[in-house]
Amino acid sequence: MYHNPVLLKQSVDALVTNPDGIYVDCTFGGGGHSREILSRLSDKGKLFSFDQDLDALKNTIDDPRFTLVNQNFRFLENSMLAYGVSHVDGILADLGVSSHQFDEAERGFSTRSNAPLDMRMNVMQDLDAKKIINDYEEEDLADIFYHYGELREARKLAREIVHHRKSKKIETTEDLKNLFNYIPAFKQNKFFAQVFQAIRIEVNQELEVLKEMLVQSYKILKVEGRLVVISYHSLEDRLVKRFLKNGMFEGEPQRDIYGNYAKAFELLQTKAIIPDDKEIEENSRARSAKMRIGIKL
Ligand SMILES: C[S@@+](CC[C@H](N)C(=O)[O-])C[C@H]1O[C@@H](n2cnc3c(N)ncnc32)[C@H](O)[C@@H]1O
Repeated sequence: MYHNPVLLKQSVDALVTNPDGIYVDCTFGGGGHSREILSRLSDKGKLFSFDQDLDALKNTIDDPRFTLVNQNFRFLENSMLAYGVSHVDGILADLGVSSHQFDEAERGFSTRSNAPLDMRMNVMQDLDAKKIINDYEEEDLADIFYHYGELREARKLAREIVHHRKSKKIETTEDLKNLFNYIPAFKQNKFFAQVFQAIRIEVNQELEVLKEMLVQSYKILKVEGRLVVISYHSLEDRLVKRFLKNGMFEGEPQRDIYGNYAKAFELLQTKAIIPDDKEIEENSRARSAKMRIGIKL
């Protein structure tokens, strides 16, 4: 299976309020969410789905209401304008990597298989994991491990990488893992998951593109349109939470003349929605999912 969609019913229930409306799925993947959205639309409804990964195009849906856009969702607003659409009724983003991308060993996303250091969702892009590990300055590597991997020993890891690559280029995921073979076995899974997450976020500029997409989503959503975001780690969820609450990512929120905090969205629920035990049992990827829903004010 290409990908087992997470929080499928709950997300689409929240998203589609107008069967005749125009909807966007920012992260098509295997098309699970897109198919569910289409099933809720009338003949007049339209769905535009984005994915930057060429592999996802193979899952396209043969439906006159559907358009698949092979584009990074950071170009959401301009891409929709190119289709003559300035406003939409709802936008869904199911962030991160698909199971297919993890399972295809040679893409280099998985900590479990040996593969070239790659981790690009868009294989046409220049920057890959090999460049980051072999060419980035020590300080930049340390920042990535610290901020994106939340690894306290970031400086030490960066120093070890830079020391090693002076004598031999680090080519594969195994080469990289071997540098840290002193990590005790019981800590390795978590440690390597954090290291790989950090590199993946940098390769795909995941936090930057998320911010750009959120800002553009607000601009192109109709009033009362819904923004539904499913995220899989706290760095993404923090950005989504802050943006839905105050329309910004950092700093003190603005206040209106009455002293009330400015709001961009009404939250459908203040707490993040998470999958139930049954879904997590059936689909381990759902374990870390958090969904937030905003209604544009
Ligand atoms: C978690 S999967 C989505 C799965 C999908 N909801 C389904 O039901 O199959 C995330 C997908 O979004 C794509 N993606 C991630 N970031 C993207 C971005 N910035 N622009 C476009 N596509 C992106 C990935 O290539 C991947 O296929």
